[in-house]
Amino acid sequence: MATALNPFIWDRPLDDPSKIIGMEAFANQVALTLKGQTNVALFGPRDTGKTTFTNQLTLELAKDHGAGAPPFDVVKVNLQRVVSIPGFIGCVYDAMTSHPTKGLRRAAQRQLGALEKEIGFDIKVIKGSVKSSALSPAQDGETLHSQLVALRSLSEHLVVVFDEFQRLRHCPGDPLAIIRSALMSSGSNHVSLLFTGSIRNAVKMMLENSHEPIFGEAAEMQLPAISRADFLEYLDFQFQSTGKGADEAALNHLLNATRAHPRSTQQLAWECWANTPAGRRPVTGGPEGGRCSRIAHGLIWAPRRGQLHFTLPLFA
Ligand SMILES: Nc1ncnc2c1ncn2[C@@H]1O[C@H](COP(=O)(O)OP(=O)(O)OP(=O)(O)O)[C@@H](O)[C@H]1O
Ligand SMILES: [Mg+2]
Repeated sequence: MATALNPFIWDRPLDDPSKIIGMEAFANQVALTLKGQTNVALFGPRDTGKTTFTNQLTLELAKDHGAGAPPFDVVKVNLQRVVSIPGFIGCVYDAMTSHPTKGLRRAAQRQLGALEKEIGFDIKVIKGSVKSSALSPAQDGETLHSQLVALRSLSEHLVVVFDEFQRLRHCPGDPLAIIRSALMSSGSNHVSLLFTGSIRNAVKMMLENSHEPIFGEAAEMQLPAISRADFLEYLDFQFQSTGKGADEAALNHLLNATRAHPRSTQQLAWECWANTPAGRRPVTGGPEGGRCSRIAHGLIWAPRRGQLHFTLPLFA
């Protein structure tokens, strides 16, 4: 018999749609909003599934939703490490040249090649030289602008995702004005933007301050919580299908401990699965604890230094 792998993932965004719980309806709502030419700002605290959601959304956007809502392409720009315009240029470069769709990737390479010819040097040089003084900040701004204009020409129906958008508030050189000019003004009617952020106030400030260039240009939405019933069903299925069918009480105990927080639940389920030997099944202690043949670690996490800490799993 094939060895079962631990089915729970908690250290990276999920890209397998069969593992993304409870986001279909919201993905449909956001996709139709974006296809209707409205930008969206999506808030959600850390580790609640914003990046995972953008993967589900990409699948939804690729569907044909009927008249006026054909399939859309998506380019995801991860701004996690951006502190400067050259850094931003590097992120856009990566998003374009490593796009998962071959046609788009090739078109991006052609566009960037043409742009490099025009500006007379390699964009990779800017990318690798955040501290270089080879270019003035104004030239960097110009390059980013040209690059975003190249990006918008990649598809006739395009959504650009700026993940961790709030990072740009630390970025000098007026990146919001550049985004606005390249992706939100004339010539970009076929482009919609999704801004995701984990610091709600920061993103609100960037979008709602009348002094900011992107003032009031996005509908605000909140990432929905994964329903407890959906999570329970998912955990049940995953333990069952890997030969460690868990007691319902144990799964409820697990969800109570994590309050069904997405990443914490997956991480605790991972630990519980890893600590349950093949062929055994997670159970709870409690008054009927005598049923347990052995106690290993536990299903209960206690707060320690602001983190959930694994303490007791039981299996029978
Ligand atoms: N829809 C989902 N279904 C099941 N698990 C999820 C879902 N969304 C997130 N998770 C869990 O949460 C973890 C973190 O997800 P993700 O990286 O998408 O969150 P994030 O909000 O982008 O985090 P960060 O704030 O660090 O960018 C995933 O590895 C997964 O365990
Ligand atoms: Mg993320």
